[in-house]
Amino acid sequence: QEDLFKNVVSHAKEYGFIFPSSEIYDGLSAVYDYGQNGAELKNNIKQYWWKAMVQLNENIVGLDAAILMHPTTWKASGHVDAFNDPLIDNKDSKKRFRADVLIEDFCAKLEDKAQKEIDKAAKRFGDAFDKEQFVATNPKVKEYYERKEAILSRMAKSLETENLADVKALIEELEIADPDTGSRNWTDVRQFNLMFGTKLGASAENAMDLYLRPETAQGIFVNFLNVQKTSRHKLPFGIAQIGKAFRNEIVARQFIFRMREFEQMEMQFFVPPGTELDFYENWKQKRLNWHLALGLGQENYRFHDHEKLAHYANAAADIEFKFPFGFKELEGIHSRTDFDLGAHEKYSGRKLQYFDPERNETYVPYVVETSIGLDRMFLALFSHCLRNEVLEDGSERVVLALPPALAPVKAAILPLVKKDGLPELAEKIFNDLKYDFNIISEEKDSIGKRYRRQDAIGTPFCITVDHDSLADGTVTLRERDTMKQERVKIEDLRKIIDDKVNF
Ligand code: GAP
Repeated sequence: QEDLFKNVVSHAKEYGFIFPSSEIYDGLSAVYDYGQNGAELKNNIKQYWWKAMVQLNENIVGLDAAILMHPTTWKASGHVDAFNDPLIDNKDSKKRFRADVLIEDFCAKLEDKAQKEIDKAAKRFGDAFDKEQFVATNPKVKEYYERKEAILSRMAKSLETENLADVKALIEELEIADPDTGSRNWTDVRQFNLMFGTKLGASAENAMDLYLRPETAQGIFVNFLNVQKTSRHKLPFGIAQIGKAFRNEIVARQFIFRMREFEQMEMQFFVPPGTELDFYENWKQKRLNWHLALGLGQENYRFHDHEKLAHYANAAADIEFKFPFGFKELEGIHSRTDFDLGAHEKYSGRKLQYFDPERNETYVPYVVETSIGLDRMFLALFSHCLRNEVLEDGSERVVLALPPALAPVKAAILPLVKKDGLPELAEKIFNDLKYDFNIISEEKDSIGKRYRRQDAIGTPFCITVDHDSLADGTVTLRERDTMKQERVKIEDLRKIIDDKVNF
């Protein structure tokens, strides 16, 4: 698994998807730049989300709010007081860790052990294996799960009640060591606010302290009435937004899974009080269906319903995805009640209410939000679709089997040789298709090498122009996944590509 993940990171760099930020200065921890192929893939994910959320839902509109907001926003939202992570330092290595992550990693190991027992039994019993029954009755597996639950629930309770001494006690009782050095010489656990501060204004005395937004959601809440009035939507209706968010994460590991600067795709759905839990269930299912439609396999997703809820929520769940390092949160669906709009009313002194003509009453709407990390979605796709394949003749190829609709490049036009008028015909085809698709043309290297390079960036089609093309107006069309090649007419290319890549 670790090798697989290393492979993901190096492939992303080698093929122009993701580079460390400011790499010539040795990079900036947990900040990344998207290269030529990464930018395309990211844009395609955004469009796929925007189309599903905004274009296909009559009652959802878009917004693009600023990253910088009035500082009182973050007081009202609770971020100034409560957007903290518990951190602990190792006194020997001087390394800083998130106390909750250390404990969660410990629990993940318990889960791995349970999974190993399950896998062993599944092998032993074959078709007759009943996983549910096994999990419920096998004493070892039961013990692993119960221990994990007990630890996580104690941790959640201690964090909720700000009992940081108990979080430290838990780390000591579990004999958790610094994963890098094995040392167990810890400081106390203390809270650390994750917001990045910055200043607005030229002179030091007059400067105003601001924060870079840690979530896009607040830009939607403070604009609720602006959008509702100008769009004239009745409740229920939603506002969707894609944009950057910043968090000074303590443990920034796992590549683009946890970054300090990242992008969120969020949608806040405003509903009448009392109806929120129905909408919450509905959005959970809709969002899961959106993921499933990409075809990465149902077995790679699961819901994780939160038992311990944040102070503003009355229901919350994650959609988890099976990343190379295990099932982890990809998207959150939260029923946020009227907490945010209510708090902004209180702090701003402005009414953020809606007159409901059907109920004939005025109220602060309730909110159900769906919130997905764009970079996390990128990682889910990229890591799942990257494969090493052994071909029939024993040779190997690396293929990035992305859903064609999301592939950075839709087709590569490849003249077989750099002479005899083939490059000219290739250019003509290129110019004809470029208005509809992101395509590239490549002349360098053998055709086999060129095919492999396109496989590695996930290009669904290669179009080879050869001498016959000049005579009969056909080209060889090679499909990425099957590697099947067929002769097709140049004039049919647009439709064939479009049928495969459109969404
Ligand atoms: N408005 C709700 C909200 O921000 P969250 O669970 O804190 O909720 C939502 O974040 C999503 O944003 C997560 O499910 C994850 O996909 C993404 N996300 C959060 N922190 C991230 C980070 N440091 N790096 C990359 N993605 C992150």
